Amino acid sequence: MTGASAGIGAEFARQLAERGYGVTLTARRKDRLEELARELSESNGIEADTVACDLSNAAARRRMIQTVEKRGRSVEILINNAGFGTAGRFQELDPENEIRMLRTNVEAVVDLCGHYVPEMVERRRGGILNVASTAAFQPIPRQTTYAATKAFVLSFSEGLHKDLGGTGVTVTALCPGPTKTEFAEVAGIDEGLLELPGIVYSAEQMARAGLGALDRGRRTSVPGPTNLAGAVAGRVSPRAVVLEVLDRFYPVGK
Ligand SMILES: NC(=O)c1ccc[n+]([C@@H]2O[C@H](COP(=O)([O-])OP(=O)(O)OC[C@H]3O[C@@H](n4cnc5c(N)ncnc54)[C@H](OP(=O)(O)O)[C@@H]3O)[C@@H](O)[C@H]2O)c1
Repeated sequence: MTGASAGIGAEFARQLAERGYGVTLTARRKDRLEELARELSESNGIEADTVACDLSNAAARRRMIQTVEKRGRSVEILINNAGFGTAGRFQELDPENEIRMLRTNVEAVVDLCGHYVPEMVERRRGGILNVASTAAFQPIPRQTTYAATKAFVLSFSEGLHKDLGGTGVTVTALCPGPTKTEFAEVAGIDEGLLELPGIVYSAEQMARAGLGALDRGRRTSVPGPTNLAGAVAGRVSPRAVVLEVLDRFYPVGK
């Protein structure tokens, strides 16, 4: 489980622990991971491991994989949830941070699937949940790199879903819309946007929807009718229209 130190990831971990699953929690903030691991093992009697890892770093990812192996853990469910966004005109953002985003949101997902999928196929069981976003369904000015990373995650997961047909291994792309987590603060987005009633999910609700979709082996899940309508509109509308509407009205990075 990546990105378990906050938000939707911490909720995935809580809900899996409540089901009795052992969990391995990873993210950069070790203190938070350890606190959550203690909470989960005390309240659910499960084994909760932690591995601090900067997923944007390929060498750190190798060390994380080796640590999990040395502990004798086999990964039955892989949740690629870690990710972050930025907000603003591309030319005004830190290019190094945009690359870091690409490595975290995209490269790490392919790398961890590349490592764990063959083992799952050999065992003929396993589940992968890749967290994309409703941002995946169209380009978004002022979140240009972020939307492109999530379009990759969605496309990659949908293709992989077919590649894995008949193997006993499933892959699901979860596409959250606005969800109350630390995401907005990290991206520098006005948190007032996360007060919209009926549209914004809690991390707990989003994680529950994601695990439900994983249980059913769904290819893609866009929880919430407003999010689903937005995703469909983003996918089928002419690009020129989508870009113009988002550029004028999408309230991020103004
Ligand atoms: N919240 C939303 O509105 C929303 C909407 C659509 C999609 N999503 C997606 O949902 C996923 C979870 O985000 P969230 O909303 O729960 O945000 P969050 O509360 O900010 O949590 C993000 C998690 O990712 C981890 N992370 C970030 N960079 C990392 C790195 N380089 N290495 C390892 N871990 C890293 C963070 O841990 P550390 O900082 O401790 O490393 C944290 O645990 C993300 O992929 C995000 O793009 C969120």
